Amino acid sequence: MEQAWRSHRCGELRAEHAGHAVRLAGWVHRRRDHGGLIFLDLRDVSGLVQVVCHPDAAPAAAAVAAGVRHEFVLHVRGEVALRREGTANAELPTGAVEVVATVIEVLNPAETPPFPVNQETPVDELTRLRYRYLDLRRQRMAANLRLRHRVVAFIRAFLDARDFVEIETPVLNLATPEGARDYLVPSRVHPGQFYALPQSPQQWKQLLMVAGFERYFQIARCYRDEDLRADRQPEFTQLDLEMSFTTEEEILALIEELYSALAAAVAPQFALPAPFHRMTYREALERFGTDKPDLRYGLEIADVSALVAGSAFAVFREAVAGGGRVRGIAVPGGAETPRRGLDALTALAREAGAQGLVTAALGGSGPLATLTIEDVRSPAARFVTAAEFAAVAEACGAARGDLLLLVAGPDAVTSRALDALRRHVAEERGLADPQRLEFAFVTEFPMLEWDEQEARWSAVHHLFTAPYEADIARIDDDPAAVRSHAYDIVCNGQEIGSGSIRIHRPELLLRVLARLGMGEAEARAKFGHMLEAFTFGAPPHGGIAPGIDRTVALFAGERDIREVIAFPKTKSASDPMTGAPSAVSARQLAEAHIAVVAPEAAAEGAARRTL
Ligand code: AMO
Repeated sequence: MEQAWRSHRCGELRAEHAGHAVRLAGWVHRRRDHGGLIFLDLRDVSGLVQVVCHPDAAPAAAAVAAGVRHEFVLHVRGEVALRREGTANAELPTGAVEVVATVIEVLNPAETPPFPVNQETPVDELTRLRYRYLDLRRQRMAANLRLRHRVVAFIRAFLDARDFVEIETPVLNLATPEGARDYLVPSRVHPGQFYALPQSPQQWKQLLMVAGFERYFQIARCYRDEDLRADRQPEFTQLDLEMSFTTEEEILALIEELYSALAAAVAPQFALPAPFHRMTYREALERFGTDKPDLRYGLEIADVSALVAGSAFAVFREAVAGGGRVRGIAVPGGAETPRRGLDALTALAREAGAQGLVTAALGGSGPLATLTIEDVRSPAARFVTAAEFAAVAEACGAARGDLLLLVAGPDAVTSRALDALRRHVAEERGLADPQRLEFAFVTEFPMLEWDEQEARWSAVHHLFTAPYEADIARIDDDPAAVRSHAYDIVCNGQEIGSGSIRIHRPELLLRVLARLGMGEAEARAKFGHMLEAFTFGAPPHGGIAPGIDRTVALFAGERDIREVIAFPKTKSASDPMTGAPSAVSARQLAEAHIAVVAPEAAAEGAARRTL
């Protein structure tokens, strides 16, 4: 349909439009003066088209064109013409034609942008966020946000077709003690009381199951006041989903089907063959040292404890004697790693909590059985025998020419260090193919873990997660051994989503809360609404919540979720464009019944200024 402002969009014009009179509106993407002739690339949401202004044929239009700069907004009238032989631009969809301008009107001039909008040149992050609306004009960011739209639109249609109902849940909530730190909102009408922004709609979706909806989803905004990283924002979006009368298998099958179909629809360059990889939490930690393994490369961890338990090397011997293990990976072709590289690997292992790292470069030639100690370059070569090194190498799947990286200690330490080493080696050696997405389900998470800081048990997933029926008896005497129906979907070394089958019986919830250190009175004060709801015929239910930001970043090939969020926050949770967060007026504070206690340094500074 023809619109008032324009007859066509810039990117639509083709050879078949030659001879048509057109009206266009858009931004000046580029301007070139060619001895009187002026060429403008006019850009709108659909793409670019070249506009040419002849000073003889249309002197007024040419005069306007002479004065425009990048990012001016123009209204252009003209006629589509085929470009002259040899001047067509095969790279541009509109490259066969140009619009010969008859009238050009400046709808709005533009200051020179703080960075080029028509190029994908690297720009400092703060500047990009300060002028986000200009950053979003750039092709890559515009494409990312369109991709995000398609992801969400696809998910809605997919779930709608499977009888899911999208239901909005409150943003002003009861603060809960578990999980990350809450963002609090003061209540004006209840002095001294606060709402919390939702960390996720977890309780609401369970209440919707009690309400009988059976299949719920929501594209839900969540808020967590936690330390930020490339994959964490203070506000982010989840595909929150819950089902009644379901099983873990059904939920995983649904997510597998959704992600496969989604990739085929929005990012067909990634083939996601089902079934996805599957492993238990225990297996993931054993083979990869993490519950979110990157499966694009091998570098699998081997347990060599039995081979070195009797070694003359005290580090190995004592670790095993002390109940720990010696575990390692083999870096194929890593034997030539220079000293500097080895030092960096050792530093990385230490940063990850290990006492140290034993490196062993396997040189020489021939089968491992013929390995001599002269063939091995290792700080431990004085204590570890050639036969021990050969056995360890074999267990790690190494050959001559490879580098062994061995860590000794408790499992938590060796896992963490070897996970860090695996990721580092893969990155350095380009083993993680960016063109591949390796999705996996990790299952059978432990239900409880000992929290050293708080000196109590805490829920690994969350406190509504159902234990394995067979393990319920161990909640009191062997909490660490209780398996839960919690599962994650992970991809390329990142957690994409988590979920679980829930507890739906009040007595079991009370028992778990007691294990978490909550007496019945406290449990009823904090979770009374859930305990009560579960007494009115709560169906068995479960669900999952994949992160939308992380999902879109994967499909967009972006490493930082900020690249797929229109207006993200900086790593210090601020917005350089609007200036949020900010101080508020004394009146607003008074209305909210808030007195601000400034941190000491700030208060001192303020006192000095008033003196
Ligand atoms: P969980 O806390 O594991 O589970 O979160 C689920 C998914 O949400 C995403 N996510 C984030 N994305 C960006 N920035 C953050 N700060 C952030 N925090 C979490 C991740 C993560 O995998 N209610 C449960 C789910 C359930 O049991 O159904 C929950 O919120 O992709």
